[in-house]
Amino acid sequence: MNEITAEDVKVDKKVLDYVENQCAPMCVIDIFENQDITIAIFLLKHGVTLPMHDHPGMHGLLKVINGAVKIDSFTVQIASGRVIQLDEELTALQHASQIIETNDPACVLTPHDHNLHEISCLNGPAAFLDILSPPYDVDLDERERSLRPCTFFRQIAQEQSNSLPADTPVRVKLMAVDQPPLFYSTNLKYLGPPLR
Ligand SMILES: [Fe+2]
Repeated sequence: MNEITAEDVKVDKKVLDYVENQCAPMCVIDIFENQDITIAIFLLKHGVTLPMHDHPGMHGLLKVINGAVKIDSFTVQIASGRVIQLDEELTALQHASQIIETNDPACVLTPHDHNLHEISCLNGPAAFLDILSPPYDVDLDERERSLRPCTFFRQIAQEQSNSLPADTPVRVKLMAVDQPPLFYSTNLKYLGPPLR
């Protein structure tokens, strides 16, 4: 994972220029999905922020292959299988921001650690390869029937942290919200080598 490059998955200048010049804040290239794993490339336009969201019961690897992103991660303890309700308030630990570039190793998230994040494109377009296991499981008709819906969050309060070292996690309060209406994505075709 750490050695994968934009060239390997055919994210070239033509693709990056297209991303920067089309309307959507984010483009997605789906590479592979089955019941165990999903592999995709996300491309964020310069200055765009992918809003804070969760990965319920999932493990994830995120490898930046172009540009640079700032990742703000949070850890929330949620009982396995519990679906978060809209407007629900949760206490989370906010980790220090990380700036991740092409040469950095993949970031890791697990069901109980760094399981929420917000990703901002500092040097764009930024592209990252994302592997999630198991995949999201979303029932579009009824949230209650989703096993692993993607929930978005907004930070509503933060503990005073003046006396703590800068890299100490800070306790914050988050609220589950609807998908931010201005954030949407468009799909691009995968041009890289097929997976066997
Ligand atoms: Fe994510």
